[in-house]
Amino acid sequence: MSTAATGIAMARGDGSAERPYRLAVIAGDGVGPEVMAQALRILELVAEKRGLRFALTRYPFGSEHYLRTNETFPPEALEEIRGHDAVLLGAIGDPRIETGLLERAIIAGLRFGLDLYINLRPVKLYAEHLCPLKGITPADIDMMVVRENTEDLYTGMGGHFKRGTPDEVALQEMILTRKGADRLFRYAYELARSRERKKLTLVDKANAVRAFDLWRRAFAEIGAEYPDVSTNCQYVDAACMNFVRDPGSYDVIVTSNVFGDIVTDLGAMIAGGMGLAASGNLHPGQVSLFEPIHGSAPDIAGKNQACPLAAILSIQMLLDYLGHPGEGRAIEAAVEGALVELEIPSAQAGNGLSTQEMGKIVARRVAALL
Ligand code: IPM
Ligand code: MN
Repeated sequence: MSTAATGIAMARGDGSAERPYRLAVIAGDGVGPEVMAQALRILELVAEKRGLRFALTRYPFGSEHYLRTNETFPPEALEEIRGHDAVLLGAIGDPRIETGLLERAIIAGLRFGLDLYINLRPVKLYAEHLCPLKGITPADIDMMVVRENTEDLYTGMGGHFKRGTPDEVALQEMILTRKGADRLFRYAYELARSRERKKLTLVDKANAVRAFDLWRRAFAEIGAEYPDVSTNCQYVDAACMNFVRDPGSYDVIVTSNVFGDIVTDLGAMIAGGMGLAASGNLHPGQVSLFEPIHGSAPDIAGKNQACPLAAILSIQMLLDYLGHPGEGRAIEAAVEGALVELEIPSAQAGNGLSTQEMGKIVARRVAALL
């Protein structure tokens, strides 16, 4: 198992690749290209310092491409991406385009198309002043959210009947499968086992949504193989309360696709904001995707104001995944140092630093650490 700080288990690489790593890069919309440029700057620096090689394939998908060509995300691109080791994504979303069209085609297209069943989202407080809660220190917030990524309300099963009439009916099915639950929980138990506290919290809504009965049984049955991991179950509403009241009570959280989407925005806010929240969309051992969890932020797009730290920490997760946890840790330490020493005072747009300046600061610190 990997000893990466992000705890990514069953990594794709073992750090000894003789050929260049193949990376598909989709910078996307809004602030995506700006934060991607800084993330790639860090990747190139690490590559140069450590003799790693990356072959990048850049894809133009996103709103501009769609407006120009009417193409969202062609099946040939997905097939080609399968031949890569990993994907880096900036952000997708544009107010000029029908809500969700590109997000479903590109983000969901990749998550479902590559069967990326784990969405791993660290929630870690790097410096006390970044937390909006009173009396909370970095020792209190260090959790990993394991978000299910290929089921639930996101499968697209459903539809409209009598659309546009007063009798319209809209249906969207919430899908949970036993296979999906088993592989998700196994990953979460392994991750919890690899961490010091060995604590796993299931977050669901089993008191109101009967389908979660399947999850409760699978969670308990798989848990029998992990007697060293302590577990508890919480309803998602109570979990939101506890994120604010007692974030230190969490170590690893495993939750559903839609609840994971929501609680990780909350998690990001207690740990300094969306500008710091990275993620890995994983199919352990196969091509996986790394992205900041923030969106395209059209209000600040093109202004050189977006915080690139989430995209940069996605590079940490990528390197961990490829089997280079030492390099990953250097990136994390550089980000942490810049925040603690107030060289980057916060992860909010408008912190007085440009996107490029923040990238430069992290790059200087990474260079000093490698
Ligand atoms: C995220 C995003 C996506 C999601 C959107 C853009 C479809 O909010 O990655 O958290 O809901 O998963
Ligand atoms: Mn989200």
